[in-house]
Amino acid sequence: MLSFDALENAFGDNYKFIIGSILPRPIAVVSTKNEDGSNNVAPFSFFTGVSAKPMIIAFCPLIRTATGEKKDTVINIEREKEFVINFVTEDNADLVNATSAELPYGEDEFKHSGLTPIDSEVVKAMRVKESPIHFECKLRDIISYGDQPGAGTLITGEVVRIHVDEKIYDSGRIITQEFKPMGRGAGNDWFKTDSVVEKQRLMKAQIQK
Ligand SMILES: Cc1cc2nc3c(=O)[nH]c(=O)nc-3n(C[C@H](O)[C@H](O)[C@H](O)COP(=O)(O)O)c2cc1C
Repeated sequence: MLSFDALENAFGDNYKFIIGSILPRPIAVVSTKNEDGSNNVAPFSFFTGVSAKPMIIAFCPLIRTATGEKKDTVINIEREKEFVINFVTEDNADLVNATSAELPYGEDEFKHSGLTPIDSEVVKAMRVKESPIHFECKLRDIISYGDQPGAGTLITGEVVRIHVDEKIYDSGRIITQEFKPMGRGAGNDWFKTDSVVEKQRLMKAQIQK
């Protein structure tokens, strides 16, 4: 086995270990309001659920490696303290991918990508019509791990309103085969989730028999 010193590694080496190891990663499509009221939207695959009640999710934008600046999503959330998490499907993935273009601050990524903005019910940030699930969120925490290029910021949000398309929802559950979510891999790899396997969770009594 090879071993590496993460404390000594360059940003890019550690980054490649994260994106090559933590697989497949779910993708948060985060929409926010720019200072002039226009809309911002961008995907983030450093993303996970944190707590069910209160309902908390987390995602992590990194400091831009090219310029050393904060991403627009972070600037907007620091000011507005709210955002929407939208989700990626096989149908909207190409449009979502287009929102990752690093446009000048204030340029509307809904317009750039062709995604359709629709009003939220609680927060000012818009929802993505092409996404079958939306979480309207209020900011809970912003924890910065530095200001060097590649340093991450952990953003957690409390989900205050959930929207789900009835076509993918049955008896209190989201049906994966109808949702058709996509995940992120290393480099330019994305994952489809069309080969679902079931494994029964083993309870202590079954293991010890
Ligand atoms: C599928 C996908 C996942 C991404 N995940 C992240 C991520 O977790 N963290 C990050 O900093 N950038 C990530 N990016 C890059 C950002 O989306 C990109 O820098 C974007 O321009 C940021 O937009 P903003 O400046 O409007 O916030 C990802 C890009 C793609 C296509």
